[in-house]
Amino acid sequence: MSTAQQKANAAAAALDYVSDGMTVGLGSGSTAEVFVSKLGEQVRDGLNIVGIPTSEQTAKLAEEAGITLKEIDHVDRVHVTVDGADEVDGRFQLVKGGGGCLLREKIIAHASDLMVVIVDETKLKAQLGDFPLPVEVDPFAFTITAKKIYDALRASGIPHADVNLRRRGDGLEPFLTDGGHYILDCSCEAIPDAAGLADRLLHIPGVIDHGLFIGLARVVIVGEDRGARVMEL
Ligand code: 5RP
Repeated sequence: MSTAQQKANAAAAALDYVSDGMTVGLGSGSTAEVFVSKLGEQVRDGLNIVGIPTSEQTAKLAEEAGITLKEIDHVDRVHVTVDGADEVDGRFQLVKGGGGCLLREKIIAHASDLMVVIVDETKLKAQLGDFPLPVEVDPFAFTITAKKIYDALRASGIPHADVNLRRRGDGLEPFLTDGGHYILDCSCEAIPDAAGLADRLLHIPGVIDHGLFIGLARVVIVGEDRGARVMEL
């Protein structure tokens, strides 16, 4: 099994959701980057679309691929957003934010008529929580916010939570999101009530947003070794 091939097959299948004249939200992460590169090929072949990037990294790649970009504040409508995910369950609930772009990804997905998620088979889970849940927080008083997050995780039925500040590759400085916030990665083992936890986290002052995407994805495309499986809610 090649996850690279599966990502490529999922990204290729997502092109079916894009047509001439659309404004397209461009996700972040390695799978979304494959989609951006394939979309760029279509643009060079004459497809007329406008892209809305969900991160600085995606903006750079999309520009290099020849895709015209606009800021979300300068468009009336986003027809479709195509993005990856760290985990997807059977109800199309997602964990996202492994790349630290969850806030912009969520704002743009929420503003879109349709969110299409592209993943390889390893991302499909019976229950969310295997992948540490990213929570984006204000740097101010982040240790207090971390304690409140820990309490929220416990109150949501997660007995052995571990909340860790994400650091940059050198391990010294905190990782900073495009918006200048910190990420707290929450190891949960399992998240029994994702919707309940999503609500609890948003009630904590200092939490900007979290990587649980509930009720946003309507299409999940799972790349397989040969082709892709398209699932619609
Ligand atoms: C970035 C994300 C990514 O979509 C998620 O981490 C999946 O990335 P990849 O396709 O590289 O596995 O949410 O914030």
